[in-house]
Amino acid sequence: VIDFDGIHRELYPAAARSAYLDTAAVGIISRPVRQAMDAVTEDHLLFGGAHWDARAAVISGARGTLARLIGGRGDHVAFTQNTSTGLAIVANGIDWRAGDGLVVPAGEFPSNFYPWTRLRRRGVEVRAVQMRQGHAETADIRARIDGSTRVLALSAVQYSSGFRYDLEELGRLCRDAGVLFVVDGTQAVGALDVNAGRADIDVLAVSAHKWMLGPTGVGFVHLSRRALEMLQPSTVGWLSVDDPFAFDREPRLAPDARRFESGTENAAGIAGMAAAADLVLSAGVQVVESRVLDTVRVLEEALRERGWSCPTESPDARRSGILIASSGGDDGAMHRRLLDRGVRCSLRGGGIRFAPHYFTNSDDVRQVLDAIATLGT
Ligand SMILES: Cc1ncc(COP(=O)(O)O)c(C=O)c1O
Repeated sequence: VIDFDGIHRELYPAAARSAYLDTAAVGIISRPVRQAMDAVTEDHLLFGGAHWDARAAVISGARGTLARLIGGRGDHVAFTQNTSTGLAIVANGIDWRAGDGLVVPAGEFPSNFYPWTRLRRRGVEVRAVQMRQGHAETADIRARIDGSTRVLALSAVQYSSGFRYDLEELGRLCRDAGVLFVVDGTQAVGALDVNAGRADIDVLAVSAHKWMLGPTGVGFVHLSRRALEMLQPSTVGWLSVDDPFAFDREPRLAPDARRFESGTENAAGIAGMAAAADLVLSAGVQVVESRVLDTVRVLEEALRERGWSCPTESPDARRSGILIASSGGDDGAMHRRLLDRGVRCSLRGGGIRFAPHYFTNSDDVRQVLDAIATLGT
């Protein structure tokens, strides 16, 4: 393995303690993320919680930062707790009529499946698209869309195969069919260039705790103008309105995405998430993407040379930060061995899931190769 350094690696103390290749489960956080969260907490400590202007500055700054990361607009960003609450904004925000349908790949992560199947009790038909080679084919998706379809929901990257959908192609498909395009970006945003504007994504829901390398329990959605107009806010509170301090009896909902927020927000979490996004922006979204893809390629080649194989094959443009590879033997035992040898990874999708990020360096890759060489000896 040729030597390479990690990007911003010195900011991630956890990267020095193990070969951390488990970002697809939960990412590690950096010192700037902690500092941003501490600054909010320190402000609360010194000045009290009702320090509204300071909070407002943090939160509106964060909207702009996140919008830059995903090619969107700050006033189209709403903060959420996680992906599930982000997707619930859509599932509970459409005026579903009996007979309406939605299309979703059959193998989606539960966060992007349960919100939809819950709608069956309202007479909505859930059309699950069969998976081939770890993903739903565009032709199969197209074949399931008809005049009753209101939503196509899928993850930018499938958690169990690492397949990266062609979002621009699917965005066009949705536009032509008059279908709302809903993307779970949690396995992609922070590592890959996901551009809500270019791909015509109506709702992009993201959690901070994986590839964004942010804190847990916070995320965001980015809504297109169409989605802003079409979706009815389902959880409305005093901060969903244009002027919260008017305390009106009849809410005048905020004209922007704040209408999908409800009450007092997780300011420290939002600050941490924005600090994490700032690090990606400072390195460059394309630079980060290329680095992550290169690292996956280096690791895959080295594993193949040692007799490993991949349960699914994808062309280059459809690859992501997730590599699933099998030793050909007992992957459960291999996984335990890797953990024992300080390599953090998961057992998923018919093999071992490796998920490096921009902080990964060549020593991490060598640590994997050393660990697998020792099995059975
Ligand atoms: C595609 C995808 N979406 C979302 C999540 C996490 O969902 P939440 O943010 O609601 O915990 C995961 C976690 O594995 C995932 O793989």
